[in-house]
Amino acid sequence: MSLSGFALDSRFFLGTLVAMSASADLWAVLVAAGSGARFGGPKHEVDLDGDPLWIHAERALRASGLEDVIVVGDVPGGVGGGPRRRDSVAKGLAQVPDEVEFVLVHDAARPLVAPALVQRVIERLRVGDVAGVVPAIPLRDTIKETDDDVVTRTVDRSSLVAVQTPQGFVTAVLRMAHAANDEEASDDAVLVEALGERVVVVEGDPANLKITYAEDLELARLLRSSGHG
Ligand code: CTP
Ligand code: MG
Repeated sequence: MSLSGFALDSRFFLGTLVAMSASADLWAVLVAAGSGARFGGPKHEVDLDGDPLWIHAERALRASGLEDVIVVGDVPGGVGGGPRRRDSVAKGLAQVPDEVEFVLVHDAARPLVAPALVQRVIERLRVGDVAGVVPAIPLRDTIKETDDDVVTRTVDRSSLVAVQTPQGFVTAVLRMAHAANDEEASDDAVLVEALGERVVVVEGDPANLKITYAEDLELARLLRSSGHG
């Protein structure tokens, strides 16, 4: 073999090793097992420009370099979910091997997530000084408390953010957090926070829309037609 051939081969080999180690210590759980009550049916299988929502979400995770994605839901290759979101996450987490250091949890209801956002979460997580990382965006609207239709208070929003998925965690801490209580939880970070562990935010993306109501799908189509997702 010529010298340059050897150099090429070893570069290829090193590249493969790097890719393997990147996937081995970081897995993702994609939850797609909700009933979509506010949407009007199971939204993960709804079509968005030719593919179901959950496929868009899975593709975005894989485009970020993730090779190991556990899909939770009644989809090809998926594992069964549970009655609450946190139960579905726990089912996915049970499929992640013990030695996997980090795990991302993403909602299939966020099909437009950009690989750059996924990478921001991963990079912050890999710094190693936190238990969890969540993407967040500033609030745009003024926030008020109400009692029926009466405004009782205007909330100071300067320290408030709206958080998205994917959320990244040290796998062992997320497992402990799930085992520590059985409360309702709208995301995974709240369980980790309850342990007193450090969760930090990174810059989220307003285009990382969550499909909650049927009209959100139209917005997702518009965002896609202008280059998002
Ligand atoms: N999810 C899940 N298992 C559940 C509930 C939710 O896997 N038992 C997933 C959904 O499929 C979705 C994500 O969690 O991708 C975020 O939840 P949400 O938007 O609330 O979806 P649904 O619970 O399906 O919707 P709704 O609350 O309107 O019923
Ligand atoms: Mg729900």
